[in-house]
Amino acid sequence: MKNLMVKDENDRVDGVLKVTGQAKYFAEFELPGLTYGVLVTSTITKGKITGLDTKSAERAPGVIAVLSHLNKPSAPLYEQEGGSPMKIFYTDKIFFNGQPIAIVIANTFERATYAASLVKATYEKEAFNTDLHKALKDAAAKKLQGQPNYKRGIENAYQTAEVKIEQEYNLPIETHNPMELHGIIADWKPNNQVTVYAKTQGVKATQNTIANVFKIPLTNVQVNSEFVGGGFGMGLRTWPLEIATVMASKHIGKPVKLVITRMQMFTMVGNRPAATQKVGLGATKDGKLTGITHTAFGESSTYENFTEGVVNMAKFMYQCDNVNTAYTIVPVDLGVPIWMRGPGEATGAFALESAIDEIAHALDMDPLEFRIKNDPEMDQQRNKPFSSKNIKEAYKIGAEKIGWSQRKNKPGSIKEGPWQTGYGVSIGVFNANRGKASVKGVLKADGSLLLQSATSDIGPGTGTGMTLIAHKLLGIPVEKITFELGDSSLPTAPSQGGSATLSTVGSAVNDVCVSLKSTIAELAANSNMSATSDFISVLKKNNLPSIEVNKESQGGKERDNYSLYSFSIHFVQVKVHELTGVVKVSKIVSVGDSGTIVSPKTARSQMVGGAVGGIGMALTEESIIDHRYGRYINNNFADYHVPVNADVPEIEVHFINKPDPVINPMGAKGMGEIALIGFSAAVANAVFNATGKRIRTLPITPDKVL
Ligand code: MOS
Repeated sequence: MKNLMVKDENDRVDGVLKVTGQAKYFAEFELPGLTYGVLVTSTITKGKITGLDTKSAERAPGVIAVLSHLNKPSAPLYEQEGGSPMKIFYTDKIFFNGQPIAIVIANTFERATYAASLVKATYEKEAFNTDLHKALKDAAAKKLQGQPNYKRGIENAYQTAEVKIEQEYNLPIETHNPMELHGIIADWKPNNQVTVYAKTQGVKATQNTIANVFKIPLTNVQVNSEFVGGGFGMGLRTWPLEIATVMASKHIGKPVKLVITRMQMFTMVGNRPAATQKVGLGATKDGKLTGITHTAFGESSTYENFTEGVVNMAKFMYQCDNVNTAYTIVPVDLGVPIWMRGPGEATGAFALESAIDEIAHALDMDPLEFRIKNDPEMDQQRNKPFSSKNIKEAYKIGAEKIGWSQRKNKPGSIKEGPWQTGYGVSIGVFNANRGKASVKGVLKADGSLLLQSATSDIGPGTGTGMTLIAHKLLGIPVEKITFELGDSSLPTAPSQGGSATLSTVGSAVNDVCVSLKSTIAELAANSNMSATSDFISVLKKNNLPSIEVNKESQGGKERDNYSLYSFSIHFVQVKVHELTGVVKVSKIVSVGDSGTIVSPKTARSQMVGGAVGGIGMALTEESIIDHRYGRYINNNFADYHVPVNADVPEIEVHFINKPDPVINPMGAKGMGEIALIGFSAAVANAVFNATGKRIRTLPITPDKVL
């Protein structure tokens, strides 16, 4: 990533490139002889293709080829690993509405679009179901255990508690909707070397999948993805549409670009699956939790199982001896879901964190007081101490900044004209992960440092974080440091997901810098220079234009003795209009407890981004299906409402900023996911406090409030 016009060490290294349009996203690459792919999609939800007439499309101006299950070159070649992911153009079977059934390639995008409209399919339809709730009522419906049931202590202990609540919470399908549309450019050469410009959260993952699917050596696949216009989880796998494009390029011997439409973004690249959950909580009269039961049903597809961590949080987040959880997935006739924005944990936190508020209310306790009273001393699930946890401090900071003392425990107590004011709080928690990554560092006699790793940046500011780690260790000015990523030929790193990149790749950057530092010190000593000599003069004296270090970092076993989590506390003030039911989030204070903050500006931006996504999840976002047809009806930006500026108040972000002692040399735990997880519950809890109305089905739209 070019380091352009960085003014001070807090600036994003890619900031200027992004806001001036110089950052190049996958669809902006132009290759000689580039052709354009457009997908034809199924118009039925389940059944079989009985006929596919591609003749008029093939005769249309500029059309080079039409590929479908009818003429796919030898199918087994294109099987994806594991067998369960959808094999593109492999079968005449239809699994969901909007399934790609053909790709038309032409010499312009417009011609490909026109020709795609000429492809006519006939079908044999079968009965289908796209509704989770209907599937749950249907005794014959398939239900699969998502994860093993969990139990400690007595099962369903809440039922016999002095005070108990038991409620159901529902979430609709949500769609990632990053600004950048999904797609890929593939350039397959006759020697079976393929270069792709992709939209991916992992260049190595994309490289692996393409190599496996097409049965070519890994080194034959080059993946470029330097800039990504938002991922939110949908870039964590290589989708059939990408395989179709590579297949098309191989077939016609020319580069092919495919950019899907906004409508296709709703069916082809995953979503947050709809979920229905029950939470039962029991407590003593003085407010000690005695039982937690969290059961969840989440949607999946009929052709591939998708599971996520919906009930994880209930197992460890509160001090409680009796906890049981169950998580079941229910196949419906939709495209396979994928992790989305703090994935299943965010789904589960809405239910659990609403329920915690509900039992505090049943106890007539301040929910904040209830939370503090049930804050766990250690992780009871793993029977290990937390590596670091400063939640009580975070509660205190947040409460003061939001003005929690103005909150009244009795709902509907604060009113100004038609607006009722309420306050809500919730916790967000996510695994503090650290994986294995490699980084190469080149320290040059011109005073610069080049760092390289095949990681990605989907927006959180990876290049900036890595630059700051190196800057702090080596004292090199930030404008002299370049961090290159998004290129599969660079040293191996995992995909950007699960809030682990700074922890994982940052540790390798740390090790590279520590090693460079000691090499310079050694060179200085050997050439009779003082130990404080700067590296430029040391390199010059030794006639070295540069020194290079490669490090792979994973860390030792010390982490096994601890439970590692990153936390956030969300405080929200809402105003609810008593006549229209409109909910406005009027103030937000999010407090992050995620170890050392390496990059204050990008860390804050992540929390702000999470809060904005959280407003969407709480108030506006819902992918609506007409279950009669199995089709999305709001599959565009006009009807699928993501929050806009007018929906977002000033967001205050605070960090505890205390190093975690075991996770990595920086003491930094992950950020991204905790920004969103729990947020929607804080809004729902605030709406209850404002109005006395408990809304357990997201999004909280005016019709539900009134
Ligand atoms: Mo994230 S949902 O791990 O991209």
